Amino acid sequence: MITVGMNYHVIAGKQQDFKEKFSAVLAALRTAKGHTSSTLWNEVADDTSYMITSEWSDEQAFLDFIHSQAFKDVTTWGKEQILASRPQHKIYKH
Ligand code: HEM
Repeated sequence: MITVGMNYHVIAGKQQDFKEKFSAVLAALRTAKGHTSSTLWNEVADDTSYMITSEWSDEQAFLDFIHSQAFKDVTTWGKEQILASRPQHKIYKH
């Protein structure tokens, strides 16, 4: 089992775009083998600060996801138009 924690800081005013893109990625992941669940969390004191937690039962499926062209398109869009800084992530294996 793998759990990924990703911290995202969004440019003020882009929160809705970020949430919609997250929902689109989640919809695609729903049919992905090895993906268990992903959740978007928003910091109470700062609504431009988010965390994504993502659970995977299959490490190879997770690696295939982050190396996919579809995900590369999301991260490129994110870097160019949505995010104030580079996301920080932590991977927990358990
Ligand atoms: C279910 C949704 C998502 C999951 C599970 C997820 C997961 C991840 C993971 C694991 C990484 C690190 C990849 C690596 O180590 O190479 C990453 C990086 C990144 N993600 Fe997400 N992400 C999600 C949604 C999004 C969305 C909606 C955006 C759009 C703003 C985004 C933008 C990025 C960017 C810009 C990076 C950094 C890429 C780089 O440094 O080259 N992600 N994400």
